Amino acid sequence: MTVVSTDVLIVGAGIAGLSCALRLARDRERHVVVITRAGDPLEGATRHAQGGIATLGPGDSPEQLVADILRAGAGLSLRRAAEIVATEGPELVRDLLLEEAGVPFDRTPEGDLHYTREGAHSTPRILHVGDQTGAAIIGALHSLIEKFSNVELVTRATAVDLITFPHHARDPLKVYEPVTCHGAYVLDQGTGEVHRYIAGATVLATGGLGRIYRYTTNPPGARGDGLAMAHRAGARVINAEYVQFHPTTLAIPEGDNFLISEAVRGEGGRLLTPDGRQFMRDYAPEWGDLAPRDVVARAIHREMTLHGYPYVFLDVSGIDNFAGRFPTIFRKCRELGIQVPEEPIPVVPAAHYACGGIWTDDWGRTTLRNLYAVGEVACTGLHGANRLASTSLLEGLVFGDRAGRSIARESPRPVPEREIPPWEHPTDGAPADPALIHRDWRSIQYTMWYYVGLSRDAHRLARAIRDLRHLWEDIVDFYRRARLDDSLLGLRNGVQAALIVAEAAWHNRESRGAHFREDA
Ligand code: SIN
Repeated sequence: MTVVSTDVLIVGAGIAGLSCALRLARDRERHVVVITRAGDPLEGATRHAQGGIATLGPGDSPEQLVADILRAGAGLSLRRAAEIVATEGPELVRDLLLEEAGVPFDRTPEGDLHYTREGAHSTPRILHVGDQTGAAIIGALHSLIEKFSNVELVTRATAVDLITFPHHARDPLKVYEPVTCHGAYVLDQGTGEVHRYIAGATVLATGGLGRIYRYTTNPPGARGDGLAMAHRAGARVINAEYVQFHPTTLAIPEGDNFLISEAVRGEGGRLLTPDGRQFMRDYAPEWGDLAPRDVVARAIHREMTLHGYPYVFLDVSGIDNFAGRFPTIFRKCRELGIQVPEEPIPVVPAAHYACGGIWTDDWGRTTLRNLYAVGEVACTGLHGANRLASTSLLEGLVFGDRAGRSIARESPRPVPEREIPPWEHPTDGAPADPALIHRDWRSIQYTMWYYVGLSRDAHRLARAIRDLRHLWEDIVDFYRRARLDDSLLGLRNGVQAALIVAEAAWHNRESRGAHFREDA
C-alpha cells in the first residue's frame, strides 16, 4: 500500500478545491495533491452550474450585494461572510477568472460584459457563458492548474475517512492534544487498495448531498461524502436542515430533473399553472417570478398539492433568441419533444443545494486542527437559511482562495509515515452486491423526498429518523462484510448525510428559508 506525503491534500476538484489549489501552487516549493473520485476531473457540481456567477453589475455596489444576500438568507446569513464575498469575490472574478484563466463570459454586441439577473437580485449582476457557465469555468481552471507541476491531480481516488489524531494515532499521548487532521485514507478505485495520504493540511471540497433525495439537480457524486467524513471525525456541522430546492427542473421522466436555470426567469420566463394562471404574484407581490428560491419552490409545491397538478409550466415565449441565450436548455427540450420557445416547459422543484454543512471560520478552518472545508460542503454562514442565486460559485472561489492563504500562512507539515497505521478493513471478501446498494439508495432517497422534503412536520421527520437509523445499522453491517469500493463508501456516506439532515430538521421547529415546518 502506497503512502503519499504532501503539504496539502485537497479532496474535490470543483471550483472551491481548484481555487484553493491555485492559491497554494503559486509557491512552487509547496506540493499539493488534489484527489477526485470521478474518472473525469471536470465532472462534479461546478460543471452543472448553468446560470452564472454573481459579481457586481453596472451601478452596483458591495453593499447592495450584501443586502440581497442577507434578504434571501431569511435573517440567518452572516453579514461578515457576505461582506467578504461581496468585496473579494468581484476582484477574484476579474483577476483570476477573466484575466488569468480567460473564461469567455458572454458580451454585448458592443463588447461589454453581459450581466443577467436571477431571483432576489436587485440588479443584473450575473456573468455567464450561455447556460454552461460552470463548465466553462471549470474547464478554464483545470487548464490553468495544469501549468503548475507542483500540483498533482489524482482521479478515481475516493477518500474513505479522514486521518485524525488521537483516533488514528499510534502514540496514546496524542489524546491530550486538540483533535488534528493529518490527511485521509484513500481508495484507489483501480486496484481496490486503500492508501495513506498524509498531509500537513487537508481541505474538503467535496460538494453537496443532493443525491440523498429522489429528485435532484445534482450529479451522482453529490452524496454527502465530505460532510459524513467530517462528522465521523468529530467536526462541527451546522444548518444541515436548510437544503435548498431549485424551483424549476424539467418535469418529464426522461428529463432526470435537468436544471432549467433561474436565469430563464431573469430574462423574462413566466411561471404558469397548467390552465394558464400566473401565480407568483399571489405568493410574492413584490418579486413575482423573481422571488427568492425558497418562496418560488414552495409556491409551486403548494399549487401542485392544492390542485393536483403534476407540474407547472415555464413560459419562455417572450424571451428574445431563446436558442442562442440558452442553447443547452433549448437542445434538451427539443430532444425531448418540447418545442421551445413556442411551447412552455413543464417544471417541478428538486433538491439543489446544501446551505448548511461543516462549520468554518472566515478562513475555511473547521473545528478540527488542520482540516479545512470550502464550497458547498462547508457552512461559512453566507447562505443562511436560503442561498441567493449564483452565489455558490462565488463562495467557492472566495473561500477556496482564503483557505489557501490561511494554509500558506500556517504551513503545517505532514507527520512522519511511521506515526500513522495503515488502513485496516475487516474483510476483503465478496464485492458489494449492486442490487443491495441500489435498493438502499432508493430507500434513502424516497425517505428524504417524502419525509424531509420541501414541507416537513414532526411525524414525518420522526418516521424518517427511525427508518434511516435502521438503514444505517444495516448499511454499516454490509460495509463491514463487503470488499470496499466507491459505491459502498458512497452509500455509507449517503445514509449518514441523510440522518444529519433529518435530525437537524427535527430539532429545528421554526420555519425559515428552505426549512419549512407545517407544524410550526
Ligand atoms: C441556476 O442556473 O438556476 C442555478 C444557479 C444556482 O444554483 O445558483
